[in-house]
Amino acid sequence: MSKYTTEVFDSAIDGSKFVANKIKALIEKNNAEGKKTVLGLATGSTPVKMYKELIRMHNEEGLSFANVVTFNLDEYYPMEKNSEHSYWYFMHENLFNHIDVKPENINIPLGNLPQEEVDQHCLDYEAKIDAEGGLDIQILGIGRTGHIGFNEPGSELDSVTRQVTLAQITIDDAAPGFGGVENVPAKAITMGVASVLKARCIYLMAYGENKAQIVSDTLTNDITDQVPATYLQKHSNTVFVLDTEASSLLPA
Ligand code: PGA
Repeated sequence: MSKYTTEVFDSAIDGSKFVANKIKALIEKNNAEGKKTVLGLATGSTPVKMYKELIRMHNEEGLSFANVVTFNLDEYYPMEKNSEHSYWYFMHENLFNHIDVKPENINIPLGNLPQEEVDQHCLDYEAKIDAEGGLDIQILGIGRTGHIGFNEPGSELDSVTRQVTLAQITIDDAAPGFGGVENVPAKAITMGVASVLKARCIYLMAYGENKAQIVSDTLTNDITDQVPATYLQKHSNTVFVLDTEASSLLPA
C-alpha cells in the first residue's frame, strides 16, 4: 500500500513555492530550537525556481541557513568543481552564493578524485549523512528514465552512494548543455536509492508535459528497478509536487 501523496498546482512557480515554504517552516522550527536542519538537494532545471524562492526568503524574510547542512544527490564523474558543467558550480550559482549557508556545511560528491579514491569517498559520503543525523528533507527531480539522483534503471533498493554509468537517455538529455553527447561524462557519483529513502520527508517535483509519461509510469506501476522512482512508493512520507501538465496522464 503506497503512502505517497500528490499535490498538483496550476504552475511550476506555485509548486516551487509550496516546497520552499515547507523547507522554510522546518528551518525556522529547528532554528528556534537551536537544532540543525539537514537538507538533501538536487540539481537540474526542476528545482531552480524553488531555490530562487529560498533566496527571496533569505533576502526579504530573514530566513537563515546558518544552521543548515546540505548534501547534494550527485555529481558527474570525471568533473572539476569549477567547471561550468559541474553540479558544484550549479549549486553555488543557483543557491549557495546567495544565502548564508556555511561553506563547511555544504556536501557535494567530488567528481575530481582519482578513480582509486572514489569508492572510499562514496563510503565517507554515506557515513557523513548518517553522522549528521540523516536527511530531514530530500528534494528530488525525476529524469525521463525514472532516475532519482543518478539511480538509473537497474538500480537496487539497497543501493547506497556509489559510482554509476549514466543511461543513454540521460546523456542525450544533458547533451545540449555540454555542446554534444560526446562531451557528457559517462559516469557519475550518486547517493543510492537506500540513501534517498532514509530521508524523513521527500518532495519530488516534476513540471511540464515532458514529465507526464514518467510521472504516470512512476505512480501507476508496481515497484520496479526499471523505473527507480517507483521505489518511492515504499517511503512513508513522500509528496509528488506536480504542475497540471506533469499530472496530465495520471488516472482521474
Ligand atoms: P531536470 O532533470 O530537472 O533538468 O528535468 C531532472 C533529473 O534528471 O533528475
